[in-house]
Amino acid sequence: MSRQQVYIVMGVSGVGKTTIGKMLAEELNIPFFDADDYHPVANVEKMKAGIPLQDDDRYEWLENLGIKIREWQKTGGAVLACSALKEKYRTQLQSLPQEHLKWIFLHSDYEVIHGRISGREGHYFKPELLQSQYETLELPSYGIHIDVDQSPEQIINEIMENIQKKMEIGLFGLGVMGKSLALNMASKGFRVSIYNRHVDKIEVDIAKNFTAENPESNFRGFDDLKAFVESLERPRNILLMVNAGKVVDFVIEDLLKHLDEGDLIIDGGNSHYRDTIRREKELKEKGILFMGAGISGGEEGARKGPSIMPGGPESSYDRVGPILEKIAAKDKKGNPCCTYVGPDGSGHFVKMVHNGIEYGEMQLIAETYHLLRYHSDAEPEEIGALFQEWNKEMQSYLLEISIEILRKKENGDLVLDQILDAAKQKGTGGWSTNAALELGVPLDTISAAVMTRNISGMKEQRAAAAKKYDHKFSEKGNLKELQNALFEAYKASGIVNHAIGFDLLRAASEEYNWRLNLSEIARIWTNGCIIRSKLMEDLVVKFKDHREHLLMQAEIVQKISGYKKSLTGMVGEALNAGFPVPVMSAAANYLLSFTAEQSSANMIQAQRDYFGAHTYQRKDKPRGEFFHTQWNPEI
Ligand code: 6PG
Repeated sequence: MSRQQVYIVMGVSGVGKTTIGKMLAEELNIPFFDADDYHPVANVEKMKAGIPLQDDDRYEWLENLGIKIREWQKTGGAVLACSALKEKYRTQLQSLPQEHLKWIFLHSDYEVIHGRISGREGHYFKPELLQSQYETLELPSYGIHIDVDQSPEQIINEIMENIQKKMEIGLFGLGVMGKSLALNMASKGFRVSIYNRHVDKIEVDIAKNFTAENPESNFRGFDDLKAFVESLERPRNILLMVNAGKVVDFVIEDLLKHLDEGDLIIDGGNSHYRDTIRREKELKEKGILFMGAGISGGEEGARKGPSIMPGGPESSYDRVGPILEKIAAKDKKGNPCCTYVGPDGSGHFVKMVHNGIEYGEMQLIAETYHLLRYHSDAEPEEIGALFQEWNKEMQSYLLEISIEILRKKENGDLVLDQILDAAKQKGTGGWSTNAALELGVPLDTISAAVMTRNISGMKEQRAAAAKKYDHKFSEKGNLKELQNALFEAYKASGIVNHAIGFDLLRAASEEYNWRLNLSEIARIWTNGCIIRSKLMEDLVVKFKDHREHLLMQAEIVQKISGYKKSLTGMVGEALNAGFPVPVMSAAANYLLSFTAEQSSANMIQAQRDYFGAHTYQRKDKPRGEFFHTQWNPEI
């Protein structure tokens, strides 16, 4: 756009041609030239002496400039500051076809410019000459006309508004994910405006610097919100990449001052789905569209292709879907790992459950590693090699990164061994657990993973308790004997963890009438996201053909039946030897509970009825009939 163009910034002396011209050249990354530097010496002398130049004086100067303009155009474009007050001067300068030469006419009231010149030092132009300049000026009927009675930044923004095509999407928030997504979008050919706030000494020129560092991306960078919004095509599409929580509300409040009806905000952070539902409702009343889009894949995914889970009004998806699908990862068939998930906050709900499954898988790998390392005394390299063997079958991203973690050394030491064993979390695992509680569905593996992070955080207390209880791991296992059973236990736990996550999605879909397509959700999780694996690819097919619980599907029944003994046996062995295996044992408990016709709940019902007359249903009577027993005649 800026390439091969010459921009002539024109207007009377003192209007700011040099300042604005230089800034514009910097913005466009092309050289700046000042026509004054090309005056013959005689002209300069006359101006210094306060003698107005005559047209004859200007002829040769303009002729030479015309030649220069042609040269500059060939070498990639330039910005030229030149008064060019009369039409005939401009005709002389117009040495290029119109599409290669743009006129930018800076102007303002005489008083404004006079005031500026009077306060200016070291310039050879005398303020008295301004009057003659105004008399000479023939207003151009073409070009971009800018009133300079505003800040230089505002002037540049206005010029850029005019000379550039409006941008297709705006990206708000240049953290690691925001920057990577911006680069991804630009690499797919989208025109992207990027914005990052200005915070004195802390966040300065973030968007501008990032734009300069990536000239091939043709970004437009802003720290002025109004200018950012105005740079966008209408109706506008703005992707927020800011931290979940109150910040999103503050950002929306600020944006609202500049948005128009029909504009669309997409929240790409890990927001809580209830916040997304609320925000969509509030914004709808103001005529603004809102979507919550879960984005998974970390920094690398964001740059090369994440998995994207957008939810909200379908009409909004029609608008931004093509952009999101283009930047998303591709599945094995080449289809984008992005699909319209459903209405309301369903996109963020689905991302929350993705993270819940992620928590379960991470803990499962962690406890498997822990058991191998300290129960069987396996060296990290051996465990890495074993995981690598397993991963031929699993093709799990999380297992893959864990193998690399098991090999990463610094100064000869395993980095893993230097890391404090207290896990952090930002909430999505806990939110999944809350959602399951609200919907009344079990979430054993995921909630166990969340609680395990919580207990890991009690580091000091754990250290003290270890002393008090003289905790030691006992009964060493043998790696060779252990590994097959452990692999089966690991696989069974992983399947159960996925079954639990997808069952939460099914329950939410029914409760909120979201009509979630579990097969499509599994499909967009086959690449780009953190929980991509071979199992996920299998689930695409499994959920396509059946809507029943994963553990009820024939192939899975067969697999799990084969692994069940290893799972329960491994959990028993681990616990006996002093190793917590929270996700594995949660999976085993879930599996045993799920597959047992007779549960222990009749005792619970009896107890409830005993102390609170809560009533119970009977096996020998139709469901829906409730009974009470007078358990103790004395109460
Ligand atoms: C992803 C990740 C990402 C982030 C999670 C984990 O899908 O790319 O899930 O969203 O890593 O928020 O968060 P915590 O482990 O800190 O809760």
